[in-house]
Amino acid sequence: METSLVILKPSAILHGYVGQIITRFQQKGLVIRGMKMMQLSEELLREHYAHLVDRPFFPDLLHSMMASPVIVMALWGNDAVEVVRIMTGATNGRKALPGTIRGDFSMSGQENIIHASDSPANAEIELKRFFSPDEIFSYLPTSLAYTYEPAEMK
Ligand code: TYD
Repeated sequence: METSLVILKPSAILHGYVGQIITRFQQKGLVIRGMKMMQLSEELLREHYAHLVDRPFFPDLLHSMMASPVIVMALWGNDAVEVVRIMTGATNGRKALPGTIRGDFSMSGQENIIHASDSPANAEIELKRFFSPDEIFSYLPTSLAYTYEPAEMK
């Protein structure tokens, strides 16, 4: 089992899509092990998007990500990072397939509704960036035995 870090971006908050997006994750069988609202700072975003700071769109990205508070989530499950990325869809909402979150809620490369960790290694780094250890809860939902076969609960 592994945990992915998801951010419901200002484009999700300001459109009022929070409930619909959280419902999708829960319906899929991902377990919410952490969730909180926070206002992102420029300092944190420069760290989180370090691979993009030199790109011409970075000032607009900063502005977009600070337009409102965001909701950060820790989602737990088997192959959670890959599953959440599949559910997220391509970076540009206009290219993302219908049925994906970006495909269904976004028309934009920047206002693309959510962030999702792109690898298990980055998920570990990102979880530490946005959550303290006491904000992650290791409970097991009673439905787990009917979400996975025994061999999948590893
Ligand atoms: P990136 O890490 O490439 O994509 P993803 O979010 O799918 O992992 O980019 C991070 C964010 O930067 C992306 O969600 C939106 C923004 N962005 C732009 O605004 N314009 C761009 O051309 C790219 C590549 C990203």
